[in-house]
Amino acid sequence: MSAALPADDPTDDTPTDPVADGAATITPYRDGPLIVRGDFRLVDQDGTEIDPGRRTVALCRCGKSGVKPFCDGTHKRSGFSAPSAPSRPRPAAAIRRQDTADQPGTRPA
Ligand code: FES
Repeated sequence: MSAALPADDPTDDTPTDPVADGAATITPYRDGPLIVRGDFRLVDQDGTEIDPGRRTVALCRCGKSGVKPFCDGTHKRSGFSAPSAPSRPRPAAAIRRQDTADQPGTRPA
């Protein structure tokens, strides 16, 4: 199994520096995978460690990869389409903002 980025993936030329404190950064790539950089642990739903094989990995979000949870580039052949950023806020985010605004002494984020 390969956890490597697909050879023809445009993410190969992206910055590889994680945030300064080493915390993981997860970036949804337009029409592609979730790129995870930095310090992270990858576990299955039973908590069993999955060896990512490297410090930066591409996780499938199209559902078509043959090596899930990793991306194998199939998203390109399948015509997967998704924006990098959400087109609208998640409903839960709006509720959280409202809750924060309702609490005395707090300001919405
Ligand atoms: S996102 Fe690449 S194979 Fe699914």
